[in-house]
Amino acid sequence: MADNTVYRASTTAPVNIAVIKYWGKRDTALNLPTNSSLSVTLSQKSLKTHTTASCSSSYTGPDTLVLNGELEDIQSSKRTQACLQVLKRFRRDVEKKDSSLPKLSDMPLRLVSANNFPTAAGLASSAAGFAALVRAIANLYELPHSPTELSKVARQGSGSACRSLMGGYVAWRAGSAKDGSDSIAEEVASVSHWPDMRALILVVSADKKGTPSTAGMQTTVETSTLFPTRANEIVPKRMAAIEEAIQAKDFPTFANITMMDSNSFHAVCLDSWPPIHYLNDVSRAAMNAVETINRRAGEPIAAYTFDAGPNAVIYYQEKDETSVAGVFRYVLQAVGGWDGEYGAQIRPNERGGLES
Ligand code: DP6
Repeated sequence: MADNTVYRASTTAPVNIAVIKYWGKRDTALNLPTNSSLSVTLSQKSLKTHTTASCSSSYTGPDTLVLNGELEDIQSSKRTQACLQVLKRFRRDVEKKDSSLPKLSDMPLRLVSANNFPTAAGLASSAAGFAALVRAIANLYELPHSPTELSKVARQGSGSACRSLMGGYVAWRAGSAKDGSDSIAEEVASVSHWPDMRALILVVSADKKGTPSTAGMQTTVETSTLFPTRANEIVPKRMAAIEEAIQAKDFPTFANITMMDSNSFHAVCLDSWPPIHYLNDVSRAAMNAVETINRRAGEPIAAYTFDAGPNAVIYYQEKDETSVAGVFRYVLQAVGGWDGEYGAQIRPNERGGLES
């Protein structure tokens, strides 16, 4: 008799927002970066991807992914295929060791995924998306692999996704091995180490971004004359300095490095040819507001950072909630041009980036 059992696992994965930006690949096939990066994983109360993975021998046809209600073409997505192939190989290894296990690796996969925030609006949707995809399938296959091992798989889906497999403060070490075996994510500090950290996300535009990050960073690598200095000299020093600032809970240093690195990333975008513009006048108004807040406070109590889009993320400490988030709420009403606002807290638990 045919076995119609459906095997299923669900998970949610959070967004992470980099304070030292990943921008540039040294190997596009394996998705290996030109420089290390560091991010903070945000609470799933605000921004997350929910993914259910199932498989059954009663399913017919190829593996499928439905994202926000629409069928995606994953057959021609090299990145998604790379992740699926590695995970199936991992499962086959598990099945070889225990022949009583069902042969899930031979069954078609059905993936259903949804974001609770705008997809591809520069809000790191691919990070949460691939992290959730990898974790959901790893749960379905009951893989014994550590988050760091799985980070190598998620990295092949989208570079920034490797950082969403962990909670708290996460470094993605660029590594130097040609096969990417040392290009991994690792937690440098847990949430409980610095629990006062907060992030305010200001959605300037929920539209799809103009230049996708994959294409944008290749243009930068190929054309920007400033880029080699950023990748080889500036970022390595900043990685060391910001890790020290995180260990010491030194917010002014953390804030200054965060803002300088965001500006450096957008500077190499502008230095690319053709130039890449992610920031707009509303983004610049947010930068000015942070500068004013910090000047009035007499020290940095807020830090802006922008990814591949105009939306601002403002880091601050809970003790400065009124001076930072309170002022932003007031200023934004006057400035106008904001589609909305999410107050996001860094995830408050220690379980590493994901919840089942
Ligand atoms: C500006 O991870 O989206 O957000 O690896 O090509 O999928 P791919 O790129 P992606 O790039 C993110 C770039 C960034 C900076 C960062 O998150 O570090």
